[in-house]
Amino acid sequence: MKKNRLNIGLIGSGFMGRAHANAFRNVSSFFNNLSLKPLLHTVADVNEKTAIKAKNDLGFINSTGDWKELVDNPDIDLVSITSPNVLHETMAIRAINLNKIVYCEKPLSHDLKSAKRMLIASKKKNSLTLVGYNFLRSPMIALAKEIIKSGEIGEIWGFRGIHAENYMGKKVPHSFRTSVDGGGALNDIGSHILSIARYLLGPIVEVIGQQETHILKRKDNKILKKVYIDDRTVFMGKFKSGVTGSFEACWISTGQKMNLSYEIIGSKGSIKFSYERLNELQLFSTKNSQKLQGFSKIEAGPEHYPYGNFCPAPGHQLGFNDLKIIESAHLIECYEKKQKAKPGFDEAYEIQKTLEAIKRSSRERVWITV
Ligand SMILES: NC(=O)c1ccc[n+]([C@@H]2O[C@H](COP(=O)([O-])OP(=O)(O)OC[C@H]3O[C@@H](n4cnc5c(N)ncnc54)[C@H](O)[C@@H]3O)[C@@H](O)[C@H]2O)c1
Repeated sequence: MKKNRLNIGLIGSGFMGRAHANAFRNVSSFFNNLSLKPLLHTVADVNEKTAIKAKNDLGFINSTGDWKELVDNPDIDLVSITSPNVLHETMAIRAINLNKIVYCEKPLSHDLKSAKRMLIASKKKNSLTLVGYNFLRSPMIALAKEIIKSGEIGEIWGFRGIHAENYMGKKVPHSFRTSVDGGGALNDIGSHILSIARYLLGPIVEVIGQQETHILKRKDNKILKKVYIDDRTVFMGKFKSGVTGSFEACWISTGQKMNLSYEIIGSKGSIKFSYERLNELQLFSTKNSQKLQGFSKIEAGPEHYPYGNFCPAPGHQLGFNDLKIIESAHLIECYEKKQKAKPGFDEAYEIQKTLEAIKRSSRERVWITV
C-alpha cells in the first residue's frame, strides 16, 4: 500500500466501467472521512486501442490490452471487474490469489458452479470483495429497512417486486446479455430485485417460476440466430420468515424505462418504492384516522445518510452515478476498518443460488428449495 493512495485497476470500460471510474474519481470529494484516496492507475480492455481510448476518456494513468497484466501488477491494490459475466470468475480469482481487493459487477458470475468457485477462492484468502448491486445504496432503501425493523408497518405479510425495462427489444443483437452462458432477463435484472428483497426481508428459501422467450431470434453479425434465454421471468418466493413474495423481471417491457419497484405489505402499514422516483419512499400508516389515511411521500434529504454528503439541501436528488460513489465509498471504508463489505461474494452467491433455483423450477414446473 502506498501511503494514503489506493491504486485502482479497472477491467472493462463500457457502461459500468465508466460508472466505476467516475465513482473512484469523485468518492473523496463526497466522503471526506476516508483516509485513502483512489488513484485511477490502469484500465484494461479487449485490446490496446480500446484501452488507450478508455485511459484518455476516463483519466487513467496507464492502459493495457491484457487484463492479466493489470491484475498481476503489484502496484494495483483494487481490481474493478466490469467485463461480461462469463469473464468475472477468471479475473476475480486471479486478483484474489494476488491479495487484491475485488469489486465485481453483478451478477457474481454466469452460472452457479462458477460463482461457487469464486466464493471458495475469496473465503480461502479471506478477501475483501464487493458486488455491484448498486440499488442497495439508495438512502431510501436504508430508510425502508429502518421502518420495517422499527415495527412501524407491523407484521410483514408480503413483498411485490418488479424490474422491468425495455432495453432488449427486437432490434437489439446478441451480446453477453443473451448468451446461453448466463444471459437472460432474470440474471441481468431479476438479480437486482432479488438483492433488494433479500436486503429488506432476508433469505428466500423456496421458489417457483416461469421463464419466457418472446424474441426468438436476434442478429449475430448480420445472421439471425436462435435465442435460448428468457426475456421475461415471473416467479414467487417464500422467505425464510414465512412471508411470500411475487416478482417479475422483464427486459422487453414496452414503454418501461426503469421500473424497478417494490411494495412491502404490513399489518399496520405499507411501503412503496419505484426507481422512477429514486429519491422518494411512500409510506402508508394505519395510525392516522381513516379520514386522513393515504400514502405519504418521504423525499430524500440530509437526514437520510449519505444524502447529506452530496447536498445539504433536501429534495435536490441523487442519481445512478451517486449510488456507485456510495458503493465505492463503502468498499474503501471497509478496507480501512478491516471489515467485510456488503454485499460481498457470499451474499452474491446466495442471490445466484436463487436465480438458478428459479430457472430449474421453470424447467421442472415445480417449487424448488433454494
Ligand atoms: N450494477 C448495475 O446496475 C449494472 C448495469 C449494467 C451492467 N452491469 C454489469 O456490468 C458488467 C458489464 O456490463 P456493461 O453494461 O458495462 O457491458 P459493456 O458491454 O458496456 O462493457 C463491457 C466492457 O468489458 C470489456 N471487455 C470484454 N471482454 C474483455 C476482456 N477480455 N478484457 C478486458 N475487457 C473486456 C468490453 O470491451 C467493454 O468495455 C456485467 O457483468 C453486467 O451485468 C451492472
